Amino acid sequence: MSETIIQAREVNMTFTTRKGSLTALEAFDLEVKPGEVVCIVGASGCGKSTFLNIMAGFLRPSSGQVLLGGQPINGIEPRCGMIFQDYALFPWMTVLDNIGFGPRLKGVSRAQRLEQARRWISLVGLEGFEYAYPGELSGGMQQRVALSRALANDPQVLLCDEPFAALDAMTRQILQQELLRVVAETGKTVLFITHSIDEALILSDRLVVMSARPGRVKVIYDNDLQRPRSMDVQITDRFLELKREVWDLVQEEVMGSMTALQPR
Ligand SMILES: Nc1ncnc2c1ncn2[C@@H]1O[C@H](COP(=O)(O)OP(=O)(O)O)[C@@H](O)[C@H]1O
Ligand SMILES: [Mg+2]
Repeated sequence: MSETIIQAREVNMTFTTRKGSLTALEAFDLEVKPGEVVCIVGASGCGKSTFLNIMAGFLRPSSGQVLLGGQPINGIEPRCGMIFQDYALFPWMTVLDNIGFGPRLKGVSRAQRLEQARRWISLVGLEGFEYAYPGELSGGMQQRVALSRALANDPQVLLCDEPFAALDAMTRQILQQELLRVVAETGKTVLFITHSIDEALILSDRLVVMSARPGRVKVIYDNDLQRPRSMDVQITDRFLELKREVWDLVQEEVMGSMTALQPR
């Protein structure tokens, strides 16, 4: 049996709302190996963030199980680090203090925190901005800080919820390459949600297509595109072929969910 770090088995998530109950995930199954980059794509509202929030321990599934390193997730999960679309940095803290925040909570000494934070800053190319505040940085730079802050806690798994969605196309491409480099250097396991099929193809070792709500795994692709996934790979026949295939699957789900909403 091959080693797995994440095992999601038969995960169901039903929310109770004022209008009744809403099933976001149904029989969601996924296994991830250590060091894999798994991208998840699917129609808006299919339960992608819900699954990530379960992984992070922000939500408890209604039924089913998620194991991380064979252990169930109970409460906010220190073994996972998360980055969000809106960066979620502390605006009143400098870059150094944002990155050192998690280690500070763990009781790491100030000198050691600063030393570690400087290492992350150099890894993501933010030298010279150690004492800047988030409001003084561009979106791409803020997301680099958020990535460093997540990694400074040395998580086993990096959870990414559409982190590059708000960035301009060029910055986004640069950050994709940087993420790949940082992940290769640190060996982290990554679960990355995106609604961009291009992004999923560039980043992933495997690409999961989810069904429309209630979300479940529809198809998993082994992404055989050559590495490095620079601009060049994006204009290969194989890239376009995979993009077409994934797009057809996603579109099928989007159209299906829209028909379901039409009045009868
Ligand atoms: N806390 C919540 N309470 C009620 N409904 C929720 C909650 N969180 C998410 N949902 C619903 O669950 C479904 C899936 O949401 P989400 O996981 O955010 O989708 P995605 O990230 O794929 O766009 C949506 O219909 C959303 O409205
Ligand atoms: Mg979402």
